[in-house]
Amino acid sequence: MRIVLVGPPGAGKGTQAQFIASHLSVPKISTGDIFRANVSGGTELGRKAKQYMDRGDLVPDEITIAMVRDRLGEDDARDGFLLDGFPRNVPQAQTLKKILDSEWGAKLDLVLELVVDEDEVVRRLSGRRTCGQCGKIWHVDWDDKKDDLCDDCGGRLFQRDDDKEEVVRHRLEVYQEQTAPLVSFYADEGILVGIDATGPVEEVTERALQAIRRFG
Ligand code: AP5
Ligand code: ZN
Repeated sequence: MRIVLVGPPGAGKGTQAQFIASHLSVPKISTGDIFRANVSGGTELGRKAKQYMDRGDLVPDEITIAMVRDRLGEDDARDGFLLDGFPRNVPQAQTLKKILDSEWGAKLDLVLELVVDEDEVVRRLSGRRTCGQCGKIWHVDWDDKKDDLCDDCGGRLFQRDDDKEEVVRHRLEVYQEQTAPLVSFYADEGILVGIDATGPVEEVTERALQAIRRFG
């Protein structure tokens, strides 16, 4: 299946993408993760993206779309994928539709919107930690983290630069202005399902899998 996850910063897209992608045996393609890997690898792409990411702005479409087109062209994405963080505005959604149609004769099957309110998002992001080795996402309070090591692989956890409160507030504004219009775009296409993204992670995963079964 070809699925897109959409939702505000901190809605749990990355967290859910890990479980859903492994359940469906499709690659998880996260534009945020690809940008961050390029920033830490010191590549030209990372250098260009970093200035936008640090402010909480979107990286320009031409950079982002070229990167996604390359990634979607890899063999493991031929039969399905889970996109996390892309598309992020209506022009990106229109371009994705054209790429799938003209290059593969394919289309998206489902867009899952993770619905959660702003206070919860701020609580989640202020405690988020990410494993620098395996990429697993943790929360200092809910996962009861007493040290800064990953329980899965022993790697060191870090806090993202864009999780500072003022940057989080700006990312939320950018979401409302540029990304929220995707909800009606995909509702018009008849492939949008909104799910309640509050409550335990496993319950949210189950709601997502139920929606996927209905569309699959
Ligand atoms: P990106 O990495 O995509 O960030 P984001 O969309 O702001 O989303 P987050 O990663 O912050 O949140 P999430 O929804 O994945 O939540 P998570 O699962 O981690 O993008 C970063 C930047 O890259 C952008 O600002 C932009 O500059 C650039 N970029 C990326 N894509 C782009 C594009 N297409 N175009 C242009 N620019 C682009 O969860 C958050 C926390 O909550 C964690 O601690 C987690 O443990 C916890 N949590 C999760 N679920 C639950 C739950 N059910 N209950 C309690 N806690 C939970
Ligand atoms: Zn780890």
